[in-house]
Amino acid sequence: MKDNSNTGKQEGTRTTSDRFSTGLGVLMATLGSAVGLGNIWKFPYLTGSNGGAAFLVIYIICTILVGYPIMIAEHSLGRKGRGDAVSTFKKLAPKSVWWIVGAMGILAAFLIMAYYTEVAGWVFAYVFKSFGSGLLSTDPAVTTSVFTSLVTNPVQSLVWQWVVLIVVSAIILMGVTKGIEGTTKKLLPILAILLVIIGIRSITLPNAAQGLSFLFKPDFSKITAATVLTALGLAFFKLSIGMGAMLTYGSYYGDSQNIPANAARVVAADLTVSILAGIAIFPAVFSFGFEPAAGTQLLFITIPSVFASMPFGKFFMILFFLLTSFAAIGAMISLVEVVVAFLVNYAGMDRKKATLLTAAGMAVFGSLAALSNSSLSAVTIFGKTFFDFYDFTTSNIFLPVGGLLLAVFTAWIWGWNKFHATTSNEGTITNVSFTRIIFSILKYVTPILVAIILLAGLNIVHL
Ligand code: PHE
Repeated sequence: MKDNSNTGKQEGTRTTSDRFSTGLGVLMATLGSAVGLGNIWKFPYLTGSNGGAAFLVIYIICTILVGYPIMIAEHSLGRKGRGDAVSTFKKLAPKSVWWIVGAMGILAAFLIMAYYTEVAGWVFAYVFKSFGSGLLSTDPAVTTSVFTSLVTNPVQSLVWQWVVLIVVSAIILMGVTKGIEGTTKKLLPILAILLVIIGIRSITLPNAAQGLSFLFKPDFSKITAATVLTALGLAFFKLSIGMGAMLTYGSYYGDSQNIPANAARVVAADLTVSILAGIAIFPAVFSFGFEPAAGTQLLFITIPSVFASMPFGKFFMILFFLLTSFAAIGAMISLVEVVVAFLVNYAGMDRKKATLLTAAGMAVFGSLAALSNSSLSAVTIFGKTFFDFYDFTTSNIFLPVGGLLLAVFTAWIWGWNKFHATTSNEGTITNVSFTRIIFSILKYVTPILVAIILLAGLNIVHL
């Protein structure tokens, strides 16, 4: 705690102890934010409901072409600003209204946490359910009913969400470096190995080929403008960009870290984990007769069937949900950190109070999502339950708009000279031709492309 409580109100006053101690620590913490329920839960459910391989192709293009440059931009702005999402803009562009982008990010963090904590709650609950025998079945009716009985129970839904919030707040109170670096460093590689093991089982199931062709044989006729926006939103969500999380993490980066190289590793690892999760799930979906477009429940109803059909299934299932909850915690820490860093750094609040206040606010927003399958299932905004509304608006509106504005700010306001100085560590890394390409993408491609996808995807303009 002492690491961060002395940052005070001024910007740029972080001590070196606030920064990640090692290069590996930086990579792992950033990965800890990126890899989470987005890979294990959201990627499969969206790929399943949007037709499979064609969606995957668009998602990969969005990740590399749009996501990667924005991640570099956020890390650079963050390291230069050495503050939270709002103070960084106030520092880099004083007397302008660009800080609103940071404020939008803080709101987005709240809205994402409101439903993310619910899904994390399901994962926590499944760790316990995995110890029993009710879940280990290859029958869709059985696994679906286990899931339904959990989410339609308002008390269980709320309690699990609170457990999640308490665990995350407790870790945050232990301080950035210890809390984030320590856990993710050890656990992410194990999660990746486990996904490979599950994937091997899944692709050796009867009819697995059907699942693999669903995932890897694109049929672009299924793609609409709304699908492209969903793929773009997923790319932003997956990389934790467009809302200040990577900007806040950038502020903890040491001066000698190579930002473009680090971001490339994060993007590659994040994509790999998503695809591994897809390989683990889709063959089983087709093998056991699940519905690929089952929606948010896809992971929870399908994955137990893979475990039910492998040796030591119960052991692997416990391990899987346990590791997934750790991955979710890493992502949630970065979301809470966006708000806490703002309250500590900008509003001068004590770190402990800021964390507790943030968690309490998230519990309030979150309860509406937690009750979306039970008491509040009939309450809708624009035809969506609170859960779906939070999910849709954050990924399909907040993050793309935030990313677009971040790109415009970096390329048109901050400018090449500062971007180049930061991405080359004041000229000590020779990467000028590469960063020039990244800068041009941020300047021209990102704003135009994201604007078109947003307008068409939201049906504002018909292409
Ligand atoms: N990237 C995280 C995941 O995939 C979610 C996240 C989004 C985290 C935005 C921080 C900011 O689970």
